[in-house]
Amino acid sequence: MLTAPLLAISNLTVQFRVDSGWVTAIDDVSLDVDAGDCVGVVGESGSGKSVTALSILGLHARATTRISSGTILYQGQDLLRARASAMRRIRGSEIAMIFQDPMSSLNPVLTIADQISETLRQHQGLTGEAARKRVVELLGLVRIPDASRRADDYPHRLSGGMRQRVMIAMAIACKPRLLIADEPTTALDVTIQAQILELLRDLRKELSMSVMLISHDLGVIAEFAQRVVVMYAGRVVEDAPVAQLFRRPVHPYTMGLISAVPKLDSDAPRLATIPGRIPSPQEVIPGCRFSPRCALVQDSCLDQQPSMQLAGDRQSARCPPRLLALGARHG
Ligand SMILES: Nc1ncnc2c1ncn2[C@@H]1O[C@H](COP(=O)(O)OP(=O)(O)O)[C@@H](O)[C@H]1O
Ligand SMILES: [Mg+2]
Repeated sequence: MLTAPLLAISNLTVQFRVDSGWVTAIDDVSLDVDAGDCVGVVGESGSGKSVTALSILGLHARATTRISSGTILYQGQDLLRARASAMRRIRGSEIAMIFQDPMSSLNPVLTIADQISETLRQHQGLTGEAARKRVVELLGLVRIPDASRRADDYPHRLSGGMRQRVMIAMAIACKPRLLIADEPTTALDVTIQAQILELLRDLRKELSMSVMLISHDLGVIAEFAQRVVVMYAGRVVEDAPVAQLFRRPVHPYTMGLISAVPKLDSDAPRLATIPGRIPSPQEVIPGCRFSPRCALVQDSCLDQQPSMQLAGDRQSARCPPRLLALGARHG
């Protein structure tokens, strides 16, 4: 029997109010995260990854946001319809999130220990010596050397990589079941990026967390995730196990992303970026939103929005011409 996923986003459409009216930032997005799984969400900047992530925790500004369709089931409970008190509990102790820029999320006038203690007080009622002990333990968990001394530092005394470790410590403080990491390594240099990914990989095992890793970089996702969800212009265009995605990408956008990943074993200069640019939510594009950039575009792509279809074992994509060519089953 199949067990229900830990998190199931179905047909989520989110609109924002802008000067010209309401625009659709993400459209009909569905994705699942199974317990213990690591799902990568990839797509160029502006594809709707952060809007999707922020929707899970209900972090959009209410007055200018409209959730026009969909459900987000977390352990069977629809987060879009949960009470504020339930959401506060879930945010603190079930689902945690880390962002690209740790400095903007850390308070510059509080020590590391003070900030982590505050989380521990709010969500676990820990104070005093018990909180201090847990702070040092958490800093150790995220491999910060000399943790008991570092705890009393202010954020500006730490390097970017160390700050991201502190953010991770705060995120895992209440042992969440799901960690959403939105471009956690984008602001860091390559060596530090690799260390943070390794830390996340270790913590995922140690704490048996599920992780949703968001990145514009398919190389990062490929190293980390078991499943990949590819987003383009507010839509999921492909969803597949990582090995399968590289072996047999279905959507032309995925193919473009793959050819843009640097290959370590090749010294050929490679500048295979996808020509053109991602449309803004304001731009009306009839048919497939990737069609203006697609090398394999056909007439039929220009008049109808393609729907997600089964392309193989646990793989689906939004590209009827490619699916037809591959002889995939229609699901
Ligand atoms: N609060 C907002 N108001 C209006 N437009 C927004 C808002 N947040 C995001 N968008 C737009 O939605 C699209 C998707 O954004 P985002 O999810 O941040 O992309 P990314 O994949 O880079 O994380 C972008 O075009 C962005 O400009
Ligand atoms: Mg983003």
